[in-house]
Amino acid sequence: MTLCNENENASAVLREEHQIILRVIDVLKKLVARACEGRGFELEAFRQCVSFIQYFADACHHAKEEEVLFPVLESRGIPKENGPIGMMIYEHKLARGYTAVMAKALDDHVKGDDDAAEQFYAAAEQYAELLTSHIFKEDNVLFNMGDQALTPQDNEKLCSQYCEVGCQSFGGKKKDELQRIADELCAHWSGE
Ligand SMILES: [Fe+2]
Ligand SMILES: [Fe+2]
Repeated sequence: MTLCNENENASAVLREEHQIILRVIDVLKKLVARACEGRGFELEAFRQCVSFIQYFADACHHAKEEEVLFPVLESRGIPKENGPIGMMIYEHKLARGYTAVMAKALDDHVKGDDDAAEQFYAAAEQYAELLTSHIFKEDNVLFNMGDQALTPQDNEKLCSQYCEVGCQSFGGKKKDELQRIADELCAHWSGE
C-alpha cells in the first residue's frame, strides 16, 4: 500500500522516480552491450525493461509531469511554447516513439526477423541517451525553476495528486510492483 505524505517536497517525488528510471536504463545499456558482444540476447530481461519503461517511466511518471505538474508550472509563469515545458513534452513524445520501436522489435525478433535485434539496439541506445539528458534537464533546470515558483499550497496539492496517480494501476500493475521489477532487474544485471 502506498502511503501519502502530503508534506513531502513535490519535486522530490519525481526526482526519486528519475533515479529508478536511470537504474533501469543502465541495465538496458548493459544488456545491449552483452548482446552485441555475443554473450546472449536476454529476451525476458529486455521485455521487462520495455514494460517498465512503458508503464513506470511513461504511463506513471511522464503522465504525472504532463497532466499534474506542467499545468501548475505554466500557471506560475514558466513558459510552455518555445520554453522548457514544451521541450520536455516534445522529448516525452520522442521517448514514446523509441519505446514503441523497442517493443515492436522484440516481437519481430521472436517471429524470426533477422534485422529486429539491430533495430532494438539502435532504439534502446537512442532512448537511453534521450532520457538521460532529459532527466538531467528536469533535475537541474526545470524542477529548480519549479521549486522557486511553486507556493507551499501548490506543493501540497501536487503531492496529494501524485499520490492519487501512484495508487492507480499501470498495465495491470501498481507502482510498487513496477518498482519491484526495477529492483529485480538491477539486482540481477547491475553487476554485469
Ligand atoms: Fe519528463
Ligand atoms: Fe521526469
